[in-house]
Amino acid sequence: MPAEILDGKQISSAIRQELAEQITEFVQKTGVTPGLATVLVGDNPASVSYVTAKGRTCRELGMLSFQHTLPATISEQELLSLVDRLNRDPQVHGILVQLPLPSHIRESQVLYAMDPNKDVDGFHPVNVGRLLIGEEIFPPCTPAGIQELILRSGTPTDGADVVVVGRSNIVGKPIAVMLMQKKPGANATVTVCHTRTRNLAEHTRRADILIVAAGSPKAVTADMVKPGAVVIDVGVNRIGTTESGKPKLVGDVDFEAVREVAGKITPVPGGVGPMTITMLMRNTLRAARLQVLGQP
Ligand code: GUN
Repeated sequence: MPAEILDGKQISSAIRQELAEQITEFVQKTGVTPGLATVLVGDNPASVSYVTAKGRTCRELGMLSFQHTLPATISEQELLSLVDRLNRDPQVHGILVQLPLPSHIRESQVLYAMDPNKDVDGFHPVNVGRLLIGEEIFPPCTPAGIQELILRSGTPTDGADVVVVGRSNIVGKPIAVMLMQKKPGANATVTVCHTRTRNLAEHTRRADILIVAAGSPKAVTADMVKPGAVVIDVGVNRIGTTESGKPKLVGDVDFEAVREVAGKITPVPGGVGPMTITMLMRNTLRAARLQVLGQP
C-alpha cells in the first residue's frame, strides 16, 4: 500500500486558523497589531517568492507586514543601519533578513546585529544557544515546521530512531537538537548524516523517521528506506519549468519510488514548505507577546 501523504498545506491551514484567533485576541487585549519586517537584498527569484508569501500570510492572519527590498549593490553598513532602525521600531516585533545575502555582505554581521528578541528566524547566536539548552523562544521555522508535522500526523517520537540527512545551520543541526531534547514531542535517538558519512544507506535504513535536507534531487532512493518509515523531505530543487511556465520543484527524495515503501511521506511542494511560513507567523506572534507582555 502506498504511503499516506503528509499534507503540509492542510495541517498548516489548521494551525493558521488557530493563530488568526490568537492574533485577534492579542490585538483586542493589547491594542497592538503584531508586525513583521522582511528584508530582501537583490532579486533572486526563489527569495522574492518566499518573501512575498511571508508578507501575504502575515496580512491574511491579521498582522502587519513591512517589506524592505534593497538592491544587491547595497553596502553591509547600509544594511546594518536598516537592521538597527528596525530593532528600534516599536511597530516591528519580528525581523527577517532573507538569506542568502550577496557575497560582499557578511551574513554573521547582519545576524549578530539583530535584536535577539526580534529574531523570528531564530538564527542569532543567542537564540541558537537557547535552542541547544532547550529554552528556545524562537525555534527556527523549518525545523519547527518539521516537528509540528511529525506530531500532528500522530507519529510518536519518544525513543524513535530519527536519521537526519544534512548538517546545515538552518535545518540539519537544529532539527537534530530539537528532536533529541528531553521533552514531550522529542526524546528521539538522533543520527546526523552528511557528505562525509561512509555508508549513508546503512544509517537511513534504520530510521523510523527519516528527515532529508541534503540539497540534491533523489539523494534518497527506495532501497534506503525502512518499510513503514515516516519520510520528511525538506529539499526544494528547481529543475526546469512546468507547462504553465512556473519553476518545477522537486525534493531530495525519489518520491514516486519511496512512496511505495514508506508509511508516511511529505510531498514537494506542499509538505514542509507551507509549515515553515506558518511557524514564522507563530514566532512573530511570540515576538509581539514578548515585547508587549514581557513573555512569549
Ligand atoms: N533562506 C532559506 N531559508 C531561509 C529561512 O528560513 N530564513 C531566512 N531568513 N532565509 C532563508
